[in-house]
Amino acid sequence: MSGAGKTSAVVIGASGGIGGAFEAALVEEGAFDIVHGFARLRSGPYRLDLLDEASIAAAAAHVAQGPAPALVIVATGLLHEGDLGPEKALRDLDPAWLSRLYAVNAIGPALVAKHFLPLMPRTGSPVFAALSARVGSISDNRLGGWHGYRASKAALNMLVRNLAIEERRRNDRAIVVALHPGTVDTALSRPFQGNVQPGRLFDAERAALQLLDVIEELKVTDSGKLFDYEGTEIPF
Ligand SMILES: NC(=O)c1ccc[n+]([C@@H]2O[C@H](COP(=O)([O-])OP(=O)(O)OC[C@H]3O[C@@H](n4cnc5c(N)ncnc54)[C@H](OP(=O)(O)O)[C@@H]3O)[C@@H](O)[C@H]2O)c1
Repeated sequence: MSGAGKTSAVVIGASGGIGGAFEAALVEEGAFDIVHGFARLRSGPYRLDLLDEASIAAAAAHVAQGPAPALVIVATGLLHEGDLGPEKALRDLDPAWLSRLYAVNAIGPALVAKHFLPLMPRTGSPVFAALSARVGSISDNRLGGWHGYRASKAALNMLVRNLAIEERRRNDRAIVVALHPGTVDTALSRPFQGNVQPGRLFDAERAALQLLDVIEELKVTDSGKLFDYEGTEIPF
């Protein structure tokens, strides 16, 4: 993440459990001159809705007025909403819900990359990290189910690989990764925490700190890959 001059950090989804913890930890650490936190329900230039590309462009334009972002974390994500949630079986497939999962989990982060990657420094090793999930790994999938969430995270993983390849042409030391935070006690996981082994449910603050440590250790050769909270690569 090193780079000359002033730098900023950006957290997209700063209203979320993990996103809020990222924002707080980055402010506390003080390594960046500015920490920008964007969320759907924030106002003015800090409002960013992944389903509204103009709001993403406006957020990027706001960041572009200050120090270049050396770290962009996309901490948004969707697993359940109202009565809709992970499908247990094919009969539960609903096209509108699948589209929404793809829009939030895959297309949204890609649009964030479209508008924010061009702002990142062309020198040093800036990091663009999108929160994904182990269940988005195709090779790791032994249980099935959760069709929409798994497939939308797999799509995100593919986009991360593509973005890494394209970004390398602009800055061959840039790092673009997907990160798995573990099971974290947030609104997203709350209905599904029943089977989590004791000691394997992290609070959001710990999850953010663990992932910041992983980000700190990333090497250029890690770009385009998915890592868990211990820094272990998860094959796609
Ligand atoms: N918690 C876990 O156990 C776990 C495990 C594996 C992976 N993850 C991943 O970690 C990431 C963060 O999850 P979390 O646990 O922190 O969940 P969370 O507390 O539910 O936060 C989700 C965030 O996504 C935002 N979001 C949803 N739709 C959006 C939209 N259309 N536009 C802008 N923002 C939108 C939410 O904004 P609002 O506040 O406006 O709704 C919120 O900031 C997700 O990608 C998730 O898939 C979490």
